[in-house]
Amino acid sequence: MQIFSEPILAALAGATGVSASALKLERPRDPKLGDLAFPCFLVAKERKAAPPAVAAELAATLSGKLPGITATAAGPYVNFRIERALLAREICGQVERDGAAYGSSSEGAGKTIVIDFSSPNIAKPMHIGHIRSTILGAALVRLCRKLGYKVVGINHIGDWGAQFGGLVVALRRWKSEVDLERDPVMGLLDLYQRSKAALKDDEAFRAEAVAAYQELESGREGEVRELWRWVTEVSMRGFNATYARLAISHELVRGESWYEPLLMPALERVKAAGITEISQGALVVTLGEIDKSLKETPCLLQQTNGTTLYATRDLAALFSRWEEFQFERCLYVVGGEQKLHFRQLKGVLKRMGCDWEARVEHIDFGLLLGPGKKKIASRKRGEVLVLDDLLDEVSEAALAVIDAKNPELANKHKVADEVGLGALVFNDLKRERVKDVIFDTAEILSFEGDTGPYLQYTHARLASILRKAAANKDAALGAQPDWSVLETAGEILVALGRYGDVVRSAAAKAEPSELSQYLLALARDVSTWVSSSDNRVLGSAGPDGAARLALVRCSKSVLGNGLQLLGVAAPEEM
Ligand code: ARG
Repeated sequence: MQIFSEPILAALAGATGVSASALKLERPRDPKLGDLAFPCFLVAKERKAAPPAVAAELAATLSGKLPGITATAAGPYVNFRIERALLAREICGQVERDGAAYGSSSEGAGKTIVIDFSSPNIAKPMHIGHIRSTILGAALVRLCRKLGYKVVGINHIGDWGAQFGGLVVALRRWKSEVDLERDPVMGLLDLYQRSKAALKDDEAFRAEAVAAYQELESGREGEVRELWRWVTEVSMRGFNATYARLAISHELVRGESWYEPLLMPALERVKAAGITEISQGALVVTLGEIDKSLKETPCLLQQTNGTTLYATRDLAALFSRWEEFQFERCLYVVGGEQKLHFRQLKGVLKRMGCDWEARVEHIDFGLLLGPGKKKIASRKRGEVLVLDDLLDEVSEAALAVIDAKNPELANKHKVADEVGLGALVFNDLKRERVKDVIFDTAEILSFEGDTGPYLQYTHARLASILRKAAANKDAALGAQPDWSVLETAGEILVALGRYGDVVRSAAAKAEPSELSQYLLALARDVSTWVSSSDNRVLGSAGPDGAARLALVRCSKSVLGNGLQLLGVAAPEEM
């Protein structure tokens, strides 16, 4: 709503003597009250006056000063209402002019945001947490980019750690017993699970595994390195195939191993800050002094035998990211079960006196559960959930829906993939990220609920109206719009105008659900509007039809734009 909020803020600044940048407009609680609201509390406090009195005075001062905008006091607020024809002309004009760039801004110009997302572990298929991290992270990348930030997506692959000692020994012993050709990811998982069991019960296996990991960490070339490298390649091939299906990529794929040469310098840096201690032979940083609740959980940085840990590698990665990017924000899109880990990392930075510690944010999220909040399982593999299986499952189900509803659809396999994937992605982004997500194929594919397919369907419906208008050579196509007929579409227009604010807020809070909920509300309002006989779009008189067609075009454009940001395709037909 910048086109309107800017002149309103300027007028308020003039009337109050407070600078416009310090003043804020809100959305009125009830849209009937107005399109924008100014809370008078701050000004009232400064003037030592009652907020309602200030509101009344400001409304009187501003009335008649803003062309096409009326100011009315309601309690402690001044509400502004924009005349509908003006609102329609300005908002539709801007949406059409900006096209795909609508909603973007330059707030991020010259600034970098680092987003660590997906980050699966070698030798295992992506688990549920990685699925959510991938979807949420990719949406955050697009949102931040829309605001002009340089965004560096980093895949922090779990390719290092003591578990690889066990895996190497398992490969030595059982490589020939598993099928690593046909389904390498599952073959590796099999070996990984066998190694986990052997580590528990087999003394000799354990000793060999410890030696193998020490050999790996030594950096020497040889059998151990080669096996580890091979496992990494096989796994990465699997992950990359999945990313390709999701059309997701990272600017940097830097596994934990990438930071190997930076580990000792990182430890030296922490030691030089004078905050390390030796506790039972291990190197730790205690955190109780900065946060009482971390008193019992110091950050462990080096084991007695000299090997490093997940936290050591993350700390080295943080130093390197800060030095390389001087980031505005560094986001870690990682499940809620790692809260402690990120609090510890931030705790170490705080104790070191790094003033950029506040820029590091753990973007946590809830679980992905099956129907009835049970542990989710796949048809093919039961307990082990493979993202590709889920993708297959939703695409097949989407194809079945299309076959039932629109069997003649051109490109129906492509559309089925888009609808299936759209359902899966939207379901993950629909609610606040910290909430758990229920994955129920039938529900997320419904064209009527709060789903991705519902939004895609609404978008396709608007596309179909526009196709028909073009095919009929509708008289409205070349006419000058009579914007006053959009009196009935005030809420839609205000919503279209708010799009950029929603994108900004979703990015700032790392909360794509704000955009999801916005799109659902917009789609509902637009569907109701086009269904009403008062708003006949096709075949109405030139100027009326022109304004209505413009609203349809703009609504379709913003819906498509928002869906794209979330990672949901917006087919023209379905
Ligand atoms: N690989 C880790 C896991 O699966 C997630 C890594 C997240 N990123 C990070 N920098 N710690 O649990």
